[in-house]
Amino acid sequence: MKIGVPKELKVKEDRVAITPEGVKLLVKKGHTVSIEKNAGLGSGFTDEEYKKSGAVICDGAEEIYNNAEIIVKVKEPQPSEYKFLKKNQILFTYLHLAVEKTLTQELLTRKVTSIAYETIQKSDGTLPLLIPMSEVAGKMSVQIAANLLENRNGGAGILLGGIAGVPAGKILIVGAGTVGINAVKIAVGMGADVSIADVNTDKLRTVDNMFGSKVKTYVSNEAVLKKLIKDTDALIGAVLIPGHKAPSIITEEMVKSMKKGSVIVDVSIDQGGIVETIDRITTIDNPSFEKYGVIHYSVANIPGSVARTSTIALTNETIKYLLNIANLGLEDAIKKDSSLARGVNTYRGKLTNIGVAEAQNLEFTELPSLIGF
Ligand SMILES: NC(=O)c1ccc[n+]([C@@H]2O[C@H](COP(=O)([O-])OP(=O)(O)OC[C@H]3O[C@@H](n4cnc5c(N)ncnc54)[C@H](O)[C@@H]3O)[C@@H](O)[C@H]2O)c1
Repeated sequence: MKIGVPKELKVKEDRVAITPEGVKLLVKKGHTVSIEKNAGLGSGFTDEEYKKSGAVICDGAEEIYNNAEIIVKVKEPQPSEYKFLKKNQILFTYLHLAVEKTLTQELLTRKVTSIAYETIQKSDGTLPLLIPMSEVAGKMSVQIAANLLENRNGGAGILLGGIAGVPAGKILIVGAGTVGINAVKIAVGMGADVSIADVNTDKLRTVDNMFGSKVKTYVSNEAVLKKLIKDTDALIGAVLIPGHKAPSIITEEMVKSMKKGSVIVDVSIDQGGIVETIDRITTIDNPSFEKYGVIHYSVANIPGSVARTSTIALTNETIKYLLNIANLGLEDAIKKDSSLARGVNTYRGKLTNIGVAEAQNLEFTELPSLIGF
């Protein structure tokens, strides 16, 4: 199959969809990989390394899109790329379509078959292509909060870890999935005063078994959040309802009740976010804004700031799916692997993800009825 890898266009997005090692595996199976010039530089991979692995280097995105049967990316195509998307082309990338109305329409009218990394779901409910980036974003979120708490960044001037004689800063993590647990790891390592809330007590049990008395666990509900948030120095949003828009559980009133110079890092922003006072997605370039004296951070591509780690981690997981699609053809790959089937968001002009259909009030078509399995 012909595989195309364009350079990422999102602001300060330095990840690339595949490493030279990943290219080698595809080329070994007889596939062609075209990659845009300098696409890997932000992740520390040169064109020379890609060439040695068997890739063809192309000058621009248009050439890549024109020739490829599968486009592999990291983030969703940007508006300037929509015109390149072709009928029946396969697009394999993070999409978060529940909150991307224009892109959803583009994919449907252009009859692109899109597979969203974040909705590929194994039968045990885990999200294998979201996990590595959630691990990165979870660990980063606490580093980011710690930075924003510094005076120079508008924060209250609190050191999360505290020191002898000065109590540690208080961090509240909402959501105890992959982002949440990784945030806990760093927060505990820093010596912060850590609380975590989730609606799923099994998730809280896991945290309790891992960290014992170092972390306070709470069942997430309005009353609990209202009480905890008043005293929180750094809040991390780490909620997910797969495929759906995130619930707006941190209300404007709650944010108003927070201390001046406290910080919110809403990692869930890629699915719309959990914080009512966040009305925009920010960029790595200009990541935060202040409202009611609270610093808000709402970057949707946090792993893009540690691109080398993230590109390697992403390829480690995506390559298995990409090899299956390229070796078997999409339809047979889907029939063999139900987790890949759940990743298909649009198929030849039909919307095949129920969460996206519900979020946007659009017609939903069952994928099996389209490809017969
Ligand atoms: N901003 C970024 O750069 C970035 C990077 C990676 C992941 N993410 C996003 O972070 C979010 C979390 O991802 P994840 O991999 O940790 O998901 P996950 O499925 O592992 O965990 C989500 C957790 O949220 C909990 N939850 C659901 N409703 C809740 C509620 N009302 N209150 C409290 N908890 C609730 C679930 O029980 C679950 O434990 C996703 O939206 C993901 O796309 C963003």
